[in-house]
Amino acid sequence: VKDKELIRGSWESLGKNKVPHGVIMFSRLFELDPALLNLFHYSTNCDSKQDCLSSPEFLDHVTKVMLVIDAAVSHLDDLHSLEDFLLNLGRKHQAVGVSTQSFTEVGESLLYMLQCSLGQAYTAPLRQAWLNMYSIVVAVMSRGWAK
Ligand code: HEM
Repeated sequence: VKDKELIRGSWESLGKNKVPHGVIMFSRLFELDPALLNLFHYSTNCDSKQDCLSSPEFLDHVTKVMLVIDAAVSHLDDLHSLEDFLLNLGRKHQAVGVSTQSFTEVGESLLYMLQCSLGQAYTAPLRQAWLNMYSIVVAVMSRGWAK
């Protein structure tokens, strides 16, 4: 119950500025694992990582990611209602060549973004609350890899 309040409270401001926060998250992700950039076929069109991160296709994906997080935050009381959507989303990511191991780095990048954006408000309980929600989302998405 406390988890939900922490998540909702912190998302209130972040959620209003999805793209810049998503860019922080994905810049971090590509720092942790530069090879992930190659899974976006548009990446061949950019000369540098910075270039990629400002291209419309990447911003589009960043927006999609943030909208999924937004949906999870809005459905904290009934996350299972997102199951079919998330399972399908997992399947799509398997199809584009993402491996479930990458979700560890995605999680770290999410926390990194929260830390950068929230400053003092980024506390241990808040971090744990987000991790708990993230691990539920990832668990469902990962079922998309199971045969
Ligand atoms: C689609 C890559 C993580 C949400 C895609 C596509 C690629 C991709 C290549 C297809 C092209 C496109 O729509 O831009 C990745 C990589 C990730 C990652 C490399 C990190 C390892 C995530 C996460 C979420 C997400 C964490 C949300 C929780 C979406 C959505 C779509 C998408 C909503 C559109 C699916 C559709 O077409 O129905 N992703 N993704 N992605 N991704 Fe990701």
